[in-house]
Amino acid sequence: MTPALTRRKKPFRLALLTGGGDCPGLNAVIRSAARSAFALGWEVFGIEDGFEGLLTKSARQLHPRDVRGILHLGGTILGTSNRVSPFRVQRKTRDGQTVDDDRSAEVVKNFRAMGFNALIAIGGDGTLSIALRLAKKGIPVVGVPKTIDNDIELTSVTFGFDTAVATATDAIDKLHPTAEAHRRVMVVELMGRNAGFIALNSGVAGGADVILIPEIDFDLDRVCEKIREREKGHRGGYFSIVVVAEGARSVGGKVHTRSLDKGEAPRLGGIGQWVAEEIAKRTGKETRSLVLGHLQRGGPPTTFDRLLGTRFGAAAVRAVHEGDFETMVALKPPTIVRVMLDDAVGSGRQKRVPLDSDVLLSARGLGISFGD
Ligand code: F6P
Repeated sequence: MTPALTRRKKPFRLALLTGGGDCPGLNAVIRSAARSAFALGWEVFGIEDGFEGLLTKSARQLHPRDVRGILHLGGTILGTSNRVSPFRVQRKTRDGQTVDDDRSAEVVKNFRAMGFNALIAIGGDGTLSIALRLAKKGIPVVGVPKTIDNDIELTSVTFGFDTAVATATDAIDKLHPTAEAHRRVMVVELMGRNAGFIALNSGVAGGADVILIPEIDFDLDRVCEKIREREKGHRGGYFSIVVVAEGARSVGGKVHTRSLDKGEAPRLGGIGQWVAEEIAKRTGKETRSLVLGHLQRGGPPTTFDRLLGTRFGAAAVRAVHEGDFETMVALKPPTIVRVMLDDAVGSGRQKRVPLDSDVLLSARGLGISFGD
């Protein structure tokens, strides 16, 4: 323990916050961080609804009973929000205009007024970038990388990803018999934002015939070639399963987005239906599409995600204990390491599927088409 911590009379106050889209394993991190902190004699506070709670001073003290029985639960007991950045808080002016206010100074003031000594921010690249900027303004922060998308640099994997892949694989498994029975092409659109990890891993694990990911622009003619080829010879494939990541796009095409409220960040979606319609037009085959959507964020975390969340939570408390701030805990198998937050999420960094990754190369070797 640092001398500053040992001399402190009031108990050390640790604040926890979950930000961005929810993801299986968040409660495992909260439980682990809280229990590790209790063991050190610290007080633990849960900030409610992500950074919104620091603007409204909404936080509640967590006691051992509050984190009991939550390890296996999806969601987050603290609530979350992926719409509020203290650096850009929307406000309506009298003449009906929407303007952005930087309220980060208020957040720093509130954090101190609530008597917090350190913050563990559990979130994806958006949340962790905000946390980094708040760290620069004086809040002692340690980050924990969360997202089903697995798009954070410097950690081999984020918690939540394994559960999302398991859910998507299960969906692909369930599409197989109906596709085969009707000799149809089934197109399933999966989440992942600008990264194709969920689509790639579940597509390979679920035995998809075509996988379209944001890292490889696809040509629909090549996709249709693959579908036709499956009907020839001994392949026996009068049906096909096409997995499309929501951020995938055709060569020269645009990423598909849904209509939004004014000022909202673009929300991806719609590519699956478009791909299905084009396949039907070009091949004459009966085609159906579905969007798996937020089911990928739901349900109990897998064993892997519970364990990773638990390891991350405990490691984050160790980092706070050692005063190692502006860092993020990360998985570097076989161990958990600390990296600088800036190196992980600074300057808009996002991890994407490496084109030479062994999963991708193996998939190609198996004859899975990426539409290129
Ligand atoms: O980042 C997680 C994620 O689920 C993405 O895969 C997806 O694009 C996005 O969040 C959806 O966000 P929302 O919950 O706002 O619809």
